Amino acid sequence: MYLLPLLLLIPTVFSLNQEVSILHQVKLSLDDPTSSLSTWNPQDTSPCNWSGVSCNNTPLPSVTSLDLSNSNLAGPFPSLLCRLPNLSSLSLSNNFINSTLPSTINTCNSLLTLDLSQNLLTGPLPHTLSDLPLLTSLDLTGNNFSGDIPASFANFQKLEILSLVSNLLDKTIPPFLSNITSLKMLNLSYNPFSPGRIPPELGNLTNLRVLWLTQCNLIGEIPDSLSRLTRLVDLDLALNNLVGPIPSSLGGLTNIVQIELYNNSLTGSIPVELGKLKSLRLLDVSMNKLTGYIPEELCSVPLESLNLYENDLEGEVPKSIASSPNLYELRLFGNRLSGALPRDLGLNSPLRWLDLSENGFSGELPPGICERGELEELLVIQNSLSGGIPEGLGDCRSLTRVRLAYNRFSGRVPVGLWGLPRVYLLELVNNSFSGEIGRSVGGALNLSLLILSNNEFTGGLPEEIGSLNNLNQLSVGGNKMSGLLPDSLMSLGELGILDLHGNRFTGELSPGIGSWKKLNELNLAGNRFSGSIPVEIGSLTVLNYLDLSDNLFSGEIPVSLQGLKLNQLNLSNNRLTGDVPVSLAKEMYKNSFLGNPGLCGDIEGLCGSKDDGKSRGYVWLLRSIFVLAGVVFVAGLVWFYFKYTSFKKARAMERSKWTVMSFHKLGFSESEILESLDEDNVIGAGASGKVYKVVLTNGETVAVKRLWTGTVKETGGDSDLEKGERSSLKDEAFEAEVETLGKIRHKNIVKLWCCCTTRDCKLLVYEYMPNGSLGDLIHSTKGGTLGWETRFKIILDAAEGLSYLHHDCVPPIVHRDVKSNNILIDGDYGARVADFGVAKVVDLSGKAPKSMSVIAGSCGYIAPEYAYTLRVNEKSDIYSFGVVILEIVTRKRPVAPELGEKDLVKWVCSTLDQKGVEHVIDPKLDSCYKEEISKILNIGLLCTSPLPINRPSMRRVVKMLQEIGGVDEESRDKTREDKDGKLTPYYSEEASDQGSVA
Ligand SMILES: *[C@@H]1O[C@H](CO)[C@@H](O)[C@H](O)[C@H]1NC(C)=O
Repeated sequence: MYLLPLLLLIPTVFSLNQEVSILHQVKLSLDDPTSSLSTWNPQDTSPCNWSGVSCNNTPLPSVTSLDLSNSNLAGPFPSLLCRLPNLSSLSLSNNFINSTLPSTINTCNSLLTLDLSQNLLTGPLPHTLSDLPLLTSLDLTGNNFSGDIPASFANFQKLEILSLVSNLLDKTIPPFLSNITSLKMLNLSYNPFSPGRIPPELGNLTNLRVLWLTQCNLIGEIPDSLSRLTRLVDLDLALNNLVGPIPSSLGGLTNIVQIELYNNSLTGSIPVELGKLKSLRLLDVSMNKLTGYIPEELCSVPLESLNLYENDLEGEVPKSIASSPNLYELRLFGNRLSGALPRDLGLNSPLRWLDLSENGFSGELPPGICERGELEELLVIQNSLSGGIPEGLGDCRSLTRVRLAYNRFSGRVPVGLWGLPRVYLLELVNNSFSGEIGRSVGGALNLSLLILSNNEFTGGLPEEIGSLNNLNQLSVGGNKMSGLLPDSLMSLGELGILDLHGNRFTGELSPGIGSWKKLNELNLAGNRFSGSIPVEIGSLTVLNYLDLSDNLFSGEIPVSLQGLKLNQLNLSNNRLTGDVPVSLAKEMYKNSFLGNPGLCGDIEGLCGSKDDGKSRGYVWLLRSIFVLAGVVFVAGLVWFYFKYTSFKKARAMERSKWTVMSFHKLGFSESEILESLDEDNVIGAGASGKVYKVVLTNGETVAVKRLWTGTVKETGGDSDLEKGERSSLKDEAFEAEVETLGKIRHKNIVKLWCCCTTRDCKLLVYEYMPNGSLGDLIHSTKGGTLGWETRFKIILDAAEGLSYLHHDCVPPIVHRDVKSNNILIDGDYGARVADFGVAKVVDLSGKAPKSMSVIAGSCGYIAPEYAYTLRVNEKSDIYSFGVVILEIVTRKRPVAPELGEKDLVKWVCSTLDQKGVEHVIDPKLDSCYKEEISKILNIGLLCTSPLPINRPSMRRVVKMLQEIGGVDEESRDKTREDKDGKLTPYYSEEASDQGSVA
């Protein structure tokens, strides 16, 4: 206390020399693994050229600013910096500053700006921060501060920026923040606040430019008082539980540019008063419960982006939206909007993405929709649009996706549209288009899917179609096309689906079809093809759908057809003769050959079948049975069709209903993820769902875990009760995982990028770990090649991750399912803890945790006490971790036939006892590490002590591991190698729990 006045006197006599020495001591107090501070040389007379250091020269040269952001510095906050008398700006953003922020921070009394964002600070916000008399900007974003916002914060005198985004603050947003009238920016988003209202007092902060309260657990209504924030530019209240109407008084926010209210439960209509907001450029009110029309008044606003999807909006798109000069993205899918599209749409703005699917729009596509030449996606599926495609689209070289299916379009397709160089999907299904496929199609070099089914197209397939090397699907079923197939068609090596059914094509199939090596589906039914079926059809090895029915094919069925694995084979109603190949004369194909009078085989209804020549009455009976079966089949088909379309609809609806909760800045969209969820990409499956690997267009790879929530009906005898329980269990698992992972940032814990939810399905998007799980790695053949150094690093990494969960999270987190499959390995063989499927935040209130009705944990990893207490705590995680250590050292699974009756823990103990340590350690490990390995093994055994009290804390485990790994010769000598499995006093529990008590 007496020091303070002294310190205040010192600045005048303070020299640069002293500043060099202070900074040097700061350097020594920090871990600097990447030598970011290498230029900080204590021999220098001035620090002013050191990296990150800035000085001014008046009155005397002195350090005024330190920017050490992004430098990989670790360790506690270097309070020594506060001795720099003129330090006005300090940034340690994005480092690994840990432990708590000391309350002596108030000795940094020259500070104007303090940026400690993206670090690992924990504990309470120091109440002394508001003592800093000059502070204008305080950024503590992205730390683990917990508790409440101190009442002293009301006393900030000059603070303009307060950002506490993404911490663990868990009380409510206090009204006294309204005392900081100098505030221009208040960012409190993404904190687990307790449910609370927006304090109406915030309306007093009339200097506020930005009010950012995303995902703050806000309830109640939006207070009218916010309308007094006339300088506000950005208002973001998204992802809360706000109810009631959007206050019409928000029309008073005269400077507002951006309003985001998505994901709340707001009701009523969009207030007409928003039309007064002349600077408004972005309005996102998606995913609320709004009703009514889009107000005409909004049309006069120069909106850039209007996001209204997933509301119960009805009515028309306002004309002025179309003329908005900056509009580049308009997504209105899945609403109940109707009326004509504004004729000016695209004329005045560089429109790029337009998705109006699944509404009730009618009338024509606006002629100038691609006037600016930037339109990439034109999606208007399932509306009642009519008329032709505007000629202008034929010159729209930016187009990539065109989906006009299920409308009432008619007329010819503009010639240019066929040959657009970037289009990869052209879908015109179920309209009334006519005319021919233009020869210009040869220029559509990117075209992968050409889907024209159920229109009135005429003419033949143009020769030029053969130059589309990327063509994967050609579907022109249900048109009026005719003529011969061009020879060039045979060169389409990528073709997977060729559907020409229900046209008037003629001619013979050439042997060239043998080059369709990727063909899955060939449907030529209902045409006038003739000649024989080429033998080469047998070489289409992936073909599983073949329908040549209702044509004029003749000759014999090629024997080569027997080699195919066909799910669907239909050759009926042709002029085939000869014998059905023996292996095709199966029950499964019994309807495949009917209506070929000259065809014989051992199948009912064909010549030569066993029943032939017997009583005619019997044949007649059979025939009626067939007819009956046919009727049932058709009825089934119709039923299936309706089911299928409603299923597809449901799917489409599902897609549009995603709720996204993100914990990091994302470089991708949920739709991109959804489109890539393909069974081919499955990389694993766990109890709670499948895991997919998704490579995004931006080059990044992510892992997506898909959880089903159980509304999908399962067949089988499960009672509904069980189903219900299981689904609510999964819900819980999901919530737990998201809650927990989303808040955590640690180098040894898998990052959760975001989660997307719908009613039926939940997705968790994680960072992708190229080396998979430890379990898979260590037990694969590759496992033996993992050297000791690598294995040790994996153990240490995982221990640090768990230690973080147990000791640095407030409240602590028990993983509940620690096992080698839940430890993932990154590209550098670093390990990260994953899958908090059953993690629960431990209740610190002292109440006994609820006992779980379901077993938590995995076989072989479950601590023995669980059998009688059915409770899990940190000590059970430590047991499981011990098993993982043993698993890594022995390279044996925790439960395996080779271990006999014993589990791995018992096996290790008894083998140690009877045969010695050599028989326990994986023989693939280099014997020169034997001593170190034995020590790690001992830690594993200590962790798996039968009595929980004897297990060391995870923090202690990390310490012990570090001491062994840290080339600590002294401790190496102190520990004798023990062959009998007993532990040296060095690791005894008394020693281990001292020092771990924080
Ligand atoms: C803080 O980081 C330093 C340096 O990495 C480390 O030695 C120390 O254990 C960490 N402290 C805590 C509480 O995690």
